[in-house]
Amino acid sequence: MIKRILKVLLFSVLGIVLVLLLFYVYVSWDFNQRAAKSYVYDVTVPNISYDSASLALGAHLSVIKGCRDCHNDDLGGRVMIDDPALGRVVPTNLTKGGVGAQYSLEDWVRALRHGIGPDQKPLLFMPAHETANMTDKDLAALIAYCTQSATVTRELPSIEIRPVGKLLNYFGKMHMFPVEMIDHDFIPPADMDKSVSPEFGEYLAVTCTGCHYSNFKGGSPQVPGSPPVPDITSTGNLANWTEGEFMQTLRTGTTPQGKMMQNEFMPWKMTSEFTDEELKSLYLYLKDHP
Ligand code: HEC
Ligand code: HEC
Repeated sequence: MIKRILKVLLFSVLGIVLVLLLFYVYVSWDFNQRAAKSYVYDVTVPNISYDSASLALGAHLSVIKGCRDCHNDDLGGRVMIDDPALGRVVPTNLTKGGVGAQYSLEDWVRALRHGIGPDQKPLLFMPAHETANMTDKDLAALIAYCTQSATVTRELPSIEIRPVGKLLNYFGKMHMFPVEMIDHDFIPPADMDKSVSPEFGEYLAVTCTGCHYSNFKGGSPQVPGSPPVPDITSTGNLANWTEGEFMQTLRTGTTPQGKMMQNEFMPWKMTSEFTDEELKSLYLYLKDHP
C-alpha cells in the first residue's frame, strides 16, 4: 500500500518537473525569437549642433534621463547586474573607447527612438521607450553631448540573460524588449515650451514609468530587492503634499512621512538634479493624475 502511494507520488513529482521543464524550454525559445527579430525603421537625424548651450542641455538630460545611473558617471559603461540566475546586464561603454567609436548619428537616433542597435536587433533592457518621445531639440542635444564625452577605455563583458531573467521578462516583471513598448509611428515635436505646466510634467514623467508603471499607480518592483513601488498620483500620498514637500522629497530622498528612500531603489540623486521648473511641472501633472 505504502509502496503504491510512493510510486504515485514519485510519478506526480516527475510529471510536474517535466511540465515545468517544457514550459521553460518554451519561454527560452520565445525569448530567443524576440531577441533575434530584425526591425527596420527610417530614421531622420535632427539638426545636431555642438554649441555650449546644446552641450549643457545634453549634459542635464544625461542626468535626468538616468543615462549616467546605468551607463556610469563617465558614460563608459559598467556591469549593472551580475546574477547567476538572472543574468548579466551591461549598459555599454557609450564613449569613443566603446560603441561610440562605431556609432553613426543614424545609429544613435535608431537606438534612442526605436530601441534597436545598428544590426537592427533589439537592445535589451535599454529603456528606449523613455527616450522615444524626446523632442528633436532634446534628442539632438543628448546625442551631441554623448558623442563629445571624454573617451573611456573600459572592456566590459557582453550582456547575457539567464533563466530567471527570461522568466521575469516572460511574466512582464522585467522589460527586456523596450522596442516592443514603443509606438514607432509617433513623430515627436521639434521643441516644446519648458515653463511650468502639466504638459511639461507629462513629458518628463515617462522617466518614472519604468518603476511606477505607465499609470503611475505603482505595484510590484522591477528591481530585485526593491521595496514595493508606491502610487504617485491623486490617489497616493503625494496628493496631500504641498509643492514644496514634493520638491523636498525628490531632492533629499526623505518623504514628509519621514520615510528615507534608498537611492538604488528610488533614484532620488537623479531627481535631485531636476530643475525647479521640472519638479514643479511633475508635481502639477502627477497630483491631478487620475
Ligand atoms: C536602466 C538602465 C539604462 C538606462 C537608464 C539607459 N540605458 Fe542605455 N543601455 C542599457 C543597457 C543594459 C544597454 C545594453 C543593451 C544591449 O546590449 O542589448 C544599453 C545600450 C545603449 C545603447 C546602445 C549601445 C550598443 O551597445 O549598441 C545606447 C546608444 C544607449 N544605451 C544610450 C543611452 C542613453 C543616451 C541613455 C539616457 C537617455 C541611456 N542609454 C539610458 C541600459 C540603460
Ligand atoms: C528605479 C525605479 C524608480 C524610478 C525610475 C522612479 N522611482 Fe519613485 N520610487 C521607487 C521606489 C521603489 C519607491 C519606494 C521607495 C521606498 O519605499 O523606500 C519610490 C518612491 C517614490 C516617491 C515616494 C512616494 C510615497 O508615497 O512615499 C515619490 C514621490 C516618487 N517615487 C516619485 C518618482 C518620480 C517623480 C519619478 C520620475 C521622475 C520616480 N519616482 C522614478 C522607484 C522608482
